[in-house]
Amino acid sequence: MSAATRASRDLRRLSISPLRYPGGKGSLFSRLRTLIRANRPSNAVYVEPYAGGAGAALALLASGEVKRIVINDLDPAVFAFWRAVTAEPKGFAELLKQAVLTVDEWERQKDIYLTADRHNYLELGFATFYLNRTNRSGVLNGGPIGGKDQTGNYKIDARFNKETLLERLRIISLYARHIVVKNSDGIDVIKEYCEEPNSFIYADPPYFEKAGSLYLNSFDEAAHTLLADCLNERADRMWVLTYDNVPNVGQLYGDRRREVFALNYSAHRVMKANEVMVYSDLVELVEVQPGLF
Ligand SMILES: C[S@@+](CC[C@H](N)C(=O)[O-])C[C@H]1O[C@@H](n2cnc3c(N)ncnc32)[C@H](O)[C@@H]1O
Repeated sequence: MSAATRASRDLRRLSISPLRYPGGKGSLFSRLRTLIRANRPSNAVYVEPYAGGAGAALALLASGEVKRIVINDLDPAVFAFWRAVTAEPKGFAELLKQAVLTVDEWERQKDIYLTADRHNYLELGFATFYLNRTNRSGVLNGGPIGGKDQTGNYKIDARFNKETLLERLRIISLYARHIVVKNSDGIDVIKEYCEEPNSFIYADPPYFEKAGSLYLNSFDEAAHTLLADCLNERADRMWVLTYDNVPNVGQLYGDRRREVFALNYSAHRVMKANEVMVYSDLVELVEVQPGLF
C-alpha cells in the first residue's frame, strides 16, 4: 500500500491508536458513530471494557462524537501503556524519540516487559509499546519483525515511524483529561457503567476461536458464560458486543438481536461475514448502506 493510500485510509478511519492490535476495531468507528448518534445524542460516555488498542474509542473522542471515553484492560502491560501515554505524555514522547531499533534493544525491552514493576507505568508501558510495534503482527509474546537475524523482507523498524507515532501521542495528550484509564475485570466495568445514564458500552472480549495466542488474558468457556450472564441481565441498558461468528454466540445471546458483518469491509473484494454484533434491547438500530456497517 502506498504512503498516500495509507494516509487517506488513516484519515477515513481516524487511526489514532499507537498500538497495533490483531483484530482491532478501529474500522468499526463509523458503525459505532451511527449507533451513538441515534442512541446517545449528547454528552455520551463511551466505554470499552476490553479496550486493547482502543482504536474506535480514540476516533470517537477525537472526532467529538463522545465527551469522555473509558479505556479498561485487565492486562497490566496494556494498562501501563494507556496510563503512561495519558499521565506522562512528555516522558513517553522522549523515550519514543530516543528509541533505538535493533535486536539488542528489542531484547532489553523484552526483559523490561517481563520483569518490570507493574506500577512503573512509564517503563512497562513503553516496553509494551516497543514490542507491539516491533513484533510480528503486534503480538506481545511473538518475535521481532524480520527475525532475530534480521534476514526477513521487513526489518524491525518496519512499523515504527517515529513521526506518525509522535503525532498520535500528541493527539492523545490533548484529550487526556477526557480519558479514564482502568485496570479492572471487564465485567466490573460493565456493571459500573451500565448505571451511568449517558454511557454507551462497546464490549469486544477475546474471541472464542481466535483469541488463544493473541492476548495475554484469553477467556475460557466459563468467562464467556459469566460475561453473557452479566450482559443479558442488563439487556435494558445501552451496550453492544462483538464476537467471532461462531454458534456459541447464538447460544449465549439467543434472546438478543444480532447482525453478522465483515471486518475491514472492502467494496472490491468478497468478504466473509465472520464477525457478529450483538445488541442490548435498548439500542435503537439504524439502517446503514451495505458496506458501511
Ligand atoms: C479482542 S481484544 C480487544 C481489541 C480492541 N477492541 C481493539 O480494537 O484494539 C480483547 C482485550 O481484552 C483484554 N482482556 C482479556 N480479558 C479481560 C478481562 N477479563 N477484563 C478486561 N480485559 C480483558 C485483553 O488484554 C485484550 O486487550
